[in-house]
Amino acid sequence: MAGLIPGDFVETVRNRIDIVELIGEYVVLKRTGQNYVGLCPFHPEKTPSFTVSPAKQIFYCFGCGTGGNVFTFLMKKDHLTFPEAVEALAHRLGLVVPRSGEARGDRERREGYYELNSEAAAFYHKILRDEAAGEKGRAYLKGRGVSPEMWEKFSLGFAPESGTALLEFLEGRGYSRQMLARAGLILIRQGVQQDRFQGRVIFPIFDPQGRCLGFGGRALGEEQPKYLNSPESFVFSKGKNLYGLHLAIPGIREEGRVLVVEGYMDCIAAHQYGFTNTCAVLGTAFTREQARLLVRYTPEVVLAFDQDAAGSAASLRGAGYLLELGARVYVLDLPDGKDPDEFLRSRGREAFTAALKNHVMSHLEFKLTRAIRQSDPETVFGKAEVVGALLEDLARIENLVVRDGYIRLISERLGVAEGAIRAELLRYIGRERVRKDRNEKIRYTMEKGKQVFAAQKLSAAEAARRGLFRLMCSSREVWEYVRQEVGLGIFEGKLGDYVRLLEQFGWTTPAELLERVPEEDQAELAGLLLTGTEQDLDPQQQERILRDYLQVLKKEQVNSRIAAVLAALRERERNGDLEGIKDLMAELHGLYAQLEVLKKQLLFSERSS
Ligand code: UTP
Ligand code: MN
Repeated sequence: MAGLIPGDFVETVRNRIDIVELIGEYVVLKRTGQNYVGLCPFHPEKTPSFTVSPAKQIFYCFGCGTGGNVFTFLMKKDHLTFPEAVEALAHRLGLVVPRSGEARGDRERREGYYELNSEAAAFYHKILRDEAAGEKGRAYLKGRGVSPEMWEKFSLGFAPESGTALLEFLEGRGYSRQMLARAGLILIRQGVQQDRFQGRVIFPIFDPQGRCLGFGGRALGEEQPKYLNSPESFVFSKGKNLYGLHLAIPGIREEGRVLVVEGYMDCIAAHQYGFTNTCAVLGTAFTREQARLLVRYTPEVVLAFDQDAAGSAASLRGAGYLLELGARVYVLDLPDGKDPDEFLRSRGREAFTAALKNHVMSHLEFKLTRAIRQSDPETVFGKAEVVGALLEDLARIENLVVRDGYIRLISERLGVAEGAIRAELLRYIGRERVRKDRNEKIRYTMEKGKQVFAAQKLSAAEAARRGLFRLMCSSREVWEYVRQEVGLGIFEGKLGDYVRLLEQFGWTTPAELLERVPEEDQAELAGLLLTGTEQDLDPQQQERILRDYLQVLKKEQVNSRIAAVLAALRERERNGDLEGIKDLMAELHGLYAQLEVLKKQLLFSERSS
């Protein structure tokens, strides 16, 4: 995430900037208990739900759910990228960001992998172009109509079927197996180390600077998976990059817009047919990071995804991220449900140009079309449904002329009077205002009470797990204690992910942990960390609540074991199978006894706190 800024420098800045001081320059903060609260700078509110924790060095708004650390705050407040936020804060401290020279560890390590990947790409490319072993790859690409110019432009290659060709080549060039494995170029199959890609057409993936990050490999036939990709690593992350972007930048600049397609072949076909402002998302997920990457190059984006369920869901989600960033978003709905590659090869360049004129819709039109497709617009109820589905988007359009234009469009497409749509919209906006005010109040009250996330109706065990997690995050000692005495297996799902991440660092501060989780989880994690009142307790009370949490979880374990034993008993009874019943009964008695003890202990500590 830190790009070229060395991690230890980021850490220095994070540790030396005080979050209360920083945010205090933007927001009037008042102390309550261990935290500070104020009016949220990210959404309008009348009662303060914006919370800053000096102990954890993070913030979270219980009204709008924005949260993060010092960097996140500046990124959101001043619309900065991560490196820019680091730089701005470094400047305050009178520090200069080391770009090269000092502390290059991280960077050099990365660059080693870029070089390794380029060598691998060159190896595969040469096989495709010149060698006997590349015949099948050549035949495949010819069969799909990919021109030799595109082989060069996209540095396409072929991974031979022999299991260790790349491994041997790269070892000969002095790379260690460990490095090859970490880059995901080799893996262990049937107990032996072999090339990851075998008998596949290779599509190297580059970053915008043209550095080779990883590979996709297409099967020649029906083998699964159709495309095998490099594994996620500190060098390659599918969700953070766009295929072909490095080649598309000049085209994007010239056209003033970018065309985003789903697949490798779509991207290559687009370039081959002259639409050089094209890049691909590689699968259906379109992430916020990809959106941010795109808007650096242009404010206008045309999404040309498959119009199947997954593709159109991806279009909508991607469009959402892009709109948030202020981009103009259009959706290309190719006739006959073809993907761009198929369309170009069967209908040609002119037809595609025409489609870009006639079948491109604004994001809202796209939603309208989709909603019409999904409901029955012939009936009044169907019409009402379609209008209902669009109100949120209409309400969000600030320009009244534009809003009016859309109302007219919807009116025409549905045969509903404009006045009716307008009235519905006003009602919707009114309702939303009330709902927001109410939510704000509820949330604020909840934060004051014990269970902020009361709406989620947590079970006692889940609440205990979260509380335990918070204690573990705020103290390395608690972390070590739980890790050794109880084990981390009690955490599952998101919490499990966070805990494993902490484990990788051998524990770290909440502010750093936040930076390391996927961006879409940051706010939620900040909220989780600032919910609950453990931090307001004195050390003795903390110890007691820690014990309580552990007992609740122990109780949960015992209870679920009891359920399992009971089920086993019933099963045996039904089958008249008497064997082992005695043992099960004995276990059951033991479990009930444990449960009694636990209940007493819990009662005691509840009473004494
Ligand atoms: P598609 O299944 O639409 O394939 O997946 P495609 O791009 O049309 O490929 P061809 O034309 O059959 O060769 C779209 C994209 O999703 C990713 C790839 O990036 C692919 O280009 N994908 C798909 C994978 O990573 N793995 C898969 O197994 C399938
Ligand atoms: Mn295809």
